[in-house]
Amino acid sequence: MRLILLGPPGAGKGTQAKLLAEKFNIQQISTGDILRQAVKNKTKMGLKAKSYMDQGKLVSDNVVIGIIKDRLDNADCSKGFILDGFPRTIQQAESLSQALKQMEIDIDYLIDIEIDFNYLIQRLTGRWTCRECGEGYHKMSNPPKKKGVCDKCDGELYQRDDDKEETIQKRFEVYRKETEPLKDYYQKNGKLNAIKGDGGIQEIFSRITNLIT
Ligand code: AP5
Ligand code: MG
Repeated sequence: MRLILLGPPGAGKGTQAKLLAEKFNIQQISTGDILRQAVKNKTKMGLKAKSYMDQGKLVSDNVVIGIIKDRLDNADCSKGFILDGFPRTIQQAESLSQALKQMEIDIDYLIDIEIDFNYLIQRLTGRWTCRECGEGYHKMSNPPKKKGVCDKCDGELYQRDDDKEETIQKRFEVYRKETEPLKDYYQKNGKLNAIKGDGGIQEIFSRITNLIT
């Protein structure tokens, strides 16, 4: 099973990708998570990416395309994967399609989570993420059992630096300009499946699993 999840910031890509990865025993590949790990480890790439991420701008295509190619080459992707947050520009989509062609594999489903922007600010400003395992929570809709502590690994929960309201607005602007055109791009080759992103986490998960199984 090879999937791509598209959708605006806060649509639930990460939340659904984790559930899908568990259910189908495939790898979740999130460029956002990989970049945040690089920032945390203060690698050369992380130090360079940080200022873009903090401003809500995209990191350069070359960097993220390199990340994805490396990751797809890894043996653990042979059973399948879910791309979460990639591709985000036409150039990324084109490089991905070339890389998949070279690997002689194809994407099974491309799922666009569609949701009204009004819901998203609330989702993003209330998000808490585990510093250790990356599990996502929400203070209202998906709270941890114990405040500030991850249910899965007891790790510390933190709020992302780019989940401030002014940075969120910039991320929406970048999404509309750079990423939304991908819908047309994929629609043309008949691959795009839109699902509604409103409702509870399990409800959306059912919509996706009904589509792909
Ligand atoms: P990235 O980490 O990919 O951020 P994003 O696209 O802005 O998306 P989010 O992770 O914010 O949202 P999500 O859709 O995953 O929502 P989630 O499931 O967490 O990218 C961050 C930055 O990295 C970018 O700005 C850029 O700088 C850089 N970057 C990354 N990839 C790149 C690329 N390919 N090219 C260039 N630069 C790149 O859910 C949000 C919240 O809502 C959570 O609290 C969750 O618990 C809650 N929630 C989820 N579903 C529901 C529901 N159904 N009901 C109620 N609450 C819900
Ligand atoms: Mg995410």
